[in-house]
Amino acid sequence: MKTNIPAHTWPRDFTWGVATSAFQVEGAAREDGRGPSIWDTRCTLPGKVHKGGSGDVSCDHYNRYPEDIAIMRSLGVDAYRFSISWPRVLPAGRGKVNEAGMAFYDRLVDSLLAADIEPWACLYHWDMPQALENLGGWAARDSAGWFADYSALMAQRLGDRVKRWITFNEFSVFTLFGYAMDWCAPGLVDRTANLRAIHHVNLAHGRCVDVLRSNVRDASIGAVHNRQVVRPATPGDADRSAAAMLDAHWNLAFPEPQLRATYPALLAEAIEPWVQAGDMAQICRRIDWLGLNHYGPIFAKADPTAIWGFGWADAPADAPVREDIGWAIFPDAFRDELIELSQRYKLPVYVTENGCGTLDKPDATGAVHDPKRVAYLETYTAAMHEAITAGADVRGYFAWSLLDSFEWGAGYTNPFGLVHVDFETQKRTLKSSARWYANFIEQARSTQANPAAVTSIRRRGAANRRG
Ligand code: FCB
Repeated sequence: MKTNIPAHTWPRDFTWGVATSAFQVEGAAREDGRGPSIWDTRCTLPGKVHKGGSGDVSCDHYNRYPEDIAIMRSLGVDAYRFSISWPRVLPAGRGKVNEAGMAFYDRLVDSLLAADIEPWACLYHWDMPQALENLGGWAARDSAGWFADYSALMAQRLGDRVKRWITFNEFSVFTLFGYAMDWCAPGLVDRTANLRAIHHVNLAHGRCVDVLRSNVRDASIGAVHNRQVVRPATPGDADRSAAAMLDAHWNLAFPEPQLRATYPALLAEAIEPWVQAGDMAQICRRIDWLGLNHYGPIFAKADPTAIWGFGWADAPADAPVREDIGWAIFPDAFRDELIELSQRYKLPVYVTENGCGTLDKPDATGAVHDPKRVAYLETYTAAMHEAITAGADVRGYFAWSLLDSFEWGAGYTNPFGLVHVDFETQKRTLKSSARWYANFIEQARSTQANPAAVTSIRRRGAANRRG
């Protein structure tokens, strides 16, 4: 397999990692005092998760993290991006701390450090405590304060060992899908709640940055945005307007206020009623880097019945290659996004998620071959390399995901793992893609270790940036 690995040189100190999130992998939903989250609730509602399924057990990472860390070590990754389950540490979202839950994150972090893997902790990957949802969730302005208090708790507990912090994962996915489309928890379709949630999540992000700065010495703080070019399904005016509105939600509603203190023109007037004096300055705080989650372009069509006038369209029939789930594969769009993001906000970029969902089962020998995922990773890492060569300041890459796991509305039907999980037995099997990634990292690192090679690519990048 080594022959398929392009002999690129990569920047010095480039971080190679894998990512997961708490609700998707931890399981142990009712162990050791964890409280319910909005996703536990959603999983009980008929029809919300494809073929049923819940986060009750999933990969049981809560109990099996030592084995998972051993796998990460065997892959040779530098870093593990995970998220903290808010209801595991604060079962009611605020107030009484669940010490058993806190102790889990101590053990996880200590074990990672002992394995020489850097912990990257994300404070919110979509699992708000149900008790806070009952008080209005993100639509309530108080949510910014609840989140700041929870962030302080975690920063004080883990900040001596965890230096890499992520405030939120994919702001626009959980606000749009959760408040306007009923594709994510809490499953509302409510324009006002959506607008309020956007603003309050932005406020929560800004307050969280302040909390992390004041509680964690040498904190390196980032926010993870999903950005994907939005293409109209047809060239007609209606689909183009729909694409512009989806772009405002998807790509702009969070990075623009957080980094430029302004809402995108298409949403500004609608959000204005909830913006109080001083809010924009509170939202726009200095961060150290941007996380990019990227899979492929998305397609919009006009839908007058939808609250924002757009609907999701399929990728055109002639789209290059399709993953099993129908997500389009356009590595060039990834390259262009990295360049655009780096130039627009002038911050270092880490790819915090990228990967491919394909359902591959063990063969008669027990091996799991996933050639589509390997091909995807090859072309996307090559596209990332092109972006760096063109001047994008990309510092790291996290494959989504380490493990097959609960994939939100897709349940267990769309696994993204480099590692296959048999959910009956909890047996982990490295897929071909895991072996590919391990080889890839080893080779990439050998170019990083060569100072001449590594500085040359940065120098070229800097020269390209200067134009
Ligand atoms: C992203 C999510 C992540 C996972 C991948 C496939 O939108 O952040 O949890 O579901 O998609």
